[in-house]
Amino acid sequence: MKAGLANTYDLKVPRYTSYPTAPHFDEAVDGARYGAWLGGIDPGTPLSLYFHIPFCAEMCWFCGCHTKIVKRYDPVAAYVETLLAEIDLVAAALPGRFAARHLHWGGGSPSMLTGADWRSIMDKLAARFDIAPGARVAVEIDPRTATEDYVKTLAGAGVNRASIGVQDFDADVQAAINRVQPFAVTERVVGWLRAHGIANLNMDLMYGLPHQTVPGVRRMADQAASLEPDRLALFGYAHVPWMKAHQKMIPEDALPDTPQRLSQFEAAAARLGDLGYVAIGLDHFALAGDDLAIALKEGRLRRNFQGYTTDTAPVLLGFGASAIGALPQGYVQNTAPLKDYRRGVERGEFPVARGIALTPEDRLRGEIIDRLMCGLAADLGAIGRRHGADPGHFAAELDALTPLADDGIVTVDGERVTVTAAGRPFTRLVAATFDAYLRKGTARHSKVV
Ligand SMILES: C[S@@+](CC[C@H](N)C(=O)[O-])C[C@H]1O[C@@H](n2cnc3c(N)ncnc32)[C@H](O)[C@@H]1O
Ligand code: SF4
Repeated sequence: MKAGLANTYDLKVPRYTSYPTAPHFDEAVDGARYGAWLGGIDPGTPLSLYFHIPFCAEMCWFCGCHTKIVKRYDPVAAYVETLLAEIDLVAAALPGRFAARHLHWGGGSPSMLTGADWRSIMDKLAARFDIAPGARVAVEIDPRTATEDYVKTLAGAGVNRASIGVQDFDADVQAAINRVQPFAVTERVVGWLRAHGIANLNMDLMYGLPHQTVPGVRRMADQAASLEPDRLALFGYAHVPWMKAHQKMIPEDALPDTPQRLSQFEAAAARLGDLGYVAIGLDHFALAGDDLAIALKEGRLRRNFQGYTTDTAPVLLGFGASAIGALPQGYVQNTAPLKDYRRGVERGEFPVARGIALTPEDRLRGEIIDRLMCGLAADLGAIGRRHGADPGHFAAELDALTPLADDGIVTVDGERVTVTAAGRPFTRLVAATFDAYLRKGTARHSKVV
């Protein structure tokens, strides 16, 4: 039955870290528009800040992130200068001084930055924003390049959460993805982080990678849990070689098929459940006492470009090449090519390439998709009424859910749609039913499972 479901729904749909999703952003939102949006933010609104560091020492063949391999530090140093100037530009466009509650550093690998550059960025932020007491400051870490000195620098800069890239501990899998990272390397970084007071730890794991098997991912879950992270992410490998040419290095004949992917997800998820982790949304797990698990219980769980979060700030400002921001008016994305990013900032302009202004219909559908992706349930009637939608607005979508209900993926009770426990791996498919852009779009996405 499950293999059947995986085959029936072997479709490609977005990951819904936003709605509308990034392939539907366009040039109608430019730097001038972004400037006006920034100027229109209500003073006193709490902010979240995201910083993108698009550099790595070596390319992992599976990587779907915006990153570039550098062998020297010069391009990173030049990038940091641009980042500092962009922080000034954005802060100057805001109507006053704002407090930041969540700061997240991603990439690429923020562990490519020197301690001195970390300090200069943190000094700039302190000069331009009020970093709220108790602010959550999270950094993505590649254990292969992090040193104990680096960890000390992070702790000194106020970092209190680290997200550690692992993927899998198996040597054959690591060889096939060009990411050799023995267990001891990850264990050592975990030890340094804890020793220097960065106690909140997330670990990124993946399934659907070449040579992964069901017993293998169970072992992976055991090894990850033995390091006692409070959170784990279990991402399905998104194989999109038409977008990421280096993924052509992945041996496609060693990739698990869709039913195998589903079995791997379920096996790893079940093992994590046995080990005391609560399932969060589509692909995250957390210990019961962790903020994410508490937010889920209290209905406060949210999803943004970094995945699941407790961050409820209405404004997320993205800094750096390719960074995405979410404002009450809509989404903006910076240009990705480093030279365009630098040129834009040097001219004193926001380096925005594209974005989208939200319509009332986008907000309505966005809330439904957010509820499905976070709480695995949405009350279409209640959400619709809040947005002023007519009764019956989603009649076509409810019809479209019938086969999914027949297959046990969702239950539909009046206008309340709930993803079943067995349907959890298909949550993106349920969310996609409410995506008005998907029907007209031509974007190619990754597999649903
Ligand atoms: C920016 S990386 C994490 C930090 C650091 N660069 C590292 O790899 O250790 C973000 C995470 O995205 C996930 N990821 C990257 N490419 C992916 C893909 N093609 N499909 C699914 N997940 C992917 C990986 O789990 C990775 O750890
Ligand atoms: S997975 Fe992380 S370390 Fe590997 S290339 Fe991508 S961003 Fe860099």
